[in-house]
Amino acid sequence: MRLDGKTAIVTGGASGFGAGIVRKFVAEGARVMIADINGDAARAMASDMGDGVLAQTVDVGDGASVQAMADAALSAFGGLDILVNNAGVTHLPTPMEEVSEDEFDRVVRVNMKSVYLTARALVPHMKSRGTGAILNIASTAGVSPRPRLNWYNASKGWMITATRTMAVELAPDGVRVNALNPVAGETPLLKSFLGEDTPEMRAKFLATIPLGRFSQPEDLGNAACFLCSDEASMITGVAMEVDGGRCI
Ligand SMILES: NC(=O)c1ccc[n+]([C@@H]2O[C@H](COP(=O)([O-])OP(=O)(O)OC[C@H]3O[C@@H](n4cnc5c(N)ncnc54)[C@H](O)[C@@H]3O)[C@@H](O)[C@H]2O)c1
Repeated sequence: MRLDGKTAIVTGGASGFGAGIVRKFVAEGARVMIADINGDAARAMASDMGDGVLAQTVDVGDGASVQAMADAALSAFGGLDILVNNAGVTHLPTPMEEVSEDEFDRVVRVNMKSVYLTARALVPHMKSRGTGAILNIASTAGVSPRPRLNWYNASKGWMITATRTMAVELAPDGVRVNALNPVAGETPLLKSFLGEDTPEMRAKFLATIPLGRFSQPEDLGNAACFLCSDEASMITGVAMEVDGGRCI
């Protein structure tokens, strides 16, 4: 029960890595809000998990929607200890100059603007309590980028820099800010990175991961639990690879 008594919001918590983080947080004693644009999936997951798990429909790229999410969490929980900015999207593997402006804007909105909007809505609360943990789900794409995912890669590099500067600015207020850099993982998003989900393409990706497997939602849950727990009370501003050695 390493998160006993803690409260958390996990954006994009209804699928993939976010769902793995929600399951681990709940198993370790936290009360969790699953905040996702797919409200049906969030509600279905919350009702399966029982008391202490809430569902909230949110578009993390929309200021009013994020404010409503923050208000709902504070009113239900009475205070917020942990915010996980996990919701993210990518454009398909494409030469950089051929990504449409709409796709570019979507990546910027969901992967980057969301970090600003959740900070605007929740940092004042964390500052006023003198405690809090924010975790941004970035990517190995921000450290060791693959070609044809240029604007996605750049959004994750931005997220890593945002993590470090948020950490240094919020440290005097007792708020820690860290990131995780997952390698390609077994989630519904994987096929968008692969371009075509074939055994050959999977083998090509796997060949770049020394430990020889894709990441799993449980891997992200375990790492997130550590960084958001009091065990990591001296750790802020790190972007920790969960990548089986991909970035070595
Ligand atoms: N899967 C991978 O290979 C991989 C690798 C590195 C990093 N990541 C990152 O991990 C995070 C989670 O990815 P995943 O693979 O679990 O993806 P996923 O597609 O399985 O889940 C993403 C969730 O985010 C939700 N979402 C999308 N747009 C939203 C919005 N505007 N507002 C609120 N919710 C929204 C979706 O409904 C979905 O439930 C993302 O930030 C992604 O960039 C994924």
